Amino acid sequence: MNKKFLVIGNPIEHSLSPKLHNYWIKKYNLNASYDKKFLEQDEIQQLILDVRKEKIQGLNVTVPFKKKVIPFLDILSEEAKNSQSVNTIYKNKDKIIGDNTDIDGFKMGLETTNQIIENKEALIFGAGGVVPSIIIALKKMKISKIYLCNRTKIKALEIKKLFPEIEIIEWGKVSNSDIIINATSIGLNNKDRINIDYKNISQNKFFYDVIYNPKETNFLKRAKKSGAFTENGKMMFIYQAQKAFFIWHNILPAVDDETVNLMNI
Ligand code: ATR
Repeated sequence: MNKKFLVIGNPIEHSLSPKLHNYWIKKYNLNASYDKKFLEQDEIQQLILDVRKEKIQGLNVTVPFKKKVIPFLDILSEEAKNSQSVNTIYKNKDKIIGDNTDIDGFKMGLETTNQIIENKEALIFGAGGVVPSIIIALKKMKISKIYLCNRTKIKALEIKKLFPEIEIIEWGKVSNSDIIINATSIGLNNKDRINIDYKNISQNKFFYDVIYNPKETNFLKRAKKSGAFTENGKMMFIYQAQKAFFIWHNILPAVDDETVNLMNI
């Protein structure tokens, strides 16, 4: 039987998930296919029904549905529950399971940089769907303090409800943190940038952008100029896919140079 997998989102055009999953499907000789699907919110229920009927074996979920799919699922993994965010869906023993592989993806991506996270302070820009996963991963890596700011403050306060230990700061302000993370969508279009006062962030800091296309956002370009170490979200993306692939196929696909180069766009 040809197993069917989909990534759903809105927009979805730029997703590289099909390229990566189909590469691994071919490499490991599996009888499966992976496509992308643009979805409206009112179509979620029907699609999950297709998983229930085993017309579809698995879904990846991206912006803006990671939280919105939750009411249609039977069981959440511990990580999905804690982050209130689901990016991987499948059926197991008549139950529809929602899992989160972004947490491990972010953690493993960060580990490849060899930057020290333990006992450091982080500042996160943004309060969108991926932010709870980033916070959980940083906590697993024993970060000492997390500051967060978002243009729409109420959304930052929603995140604080899940993680009371974080500190919310005003949009436009910066804390002199060791690790500065862009988790907003600013930079996706190559034009906009976050107005940060780089002078208030001393040198030798670690700037991380969740965005991997474009490869280097203005956020990272500026940081590099001021002497910071920078990294984009490519490895996070690859490792979240690796874990999803393992959940569905019970094969841990290799993340080798060929895989990483495949994602160079
Ligand atoms: P969602 O909020 O649906 O999960 P997302 O793409 O994960 O979507 O999140 C987008 C993030 O980028 C949000 O933090 C958003 O800020 P708001 O909550 O204020 O909307 C942020 N963002 C996007 N464009 C922005 C801009 N021009 N200026 C500041 N923040 C922006």
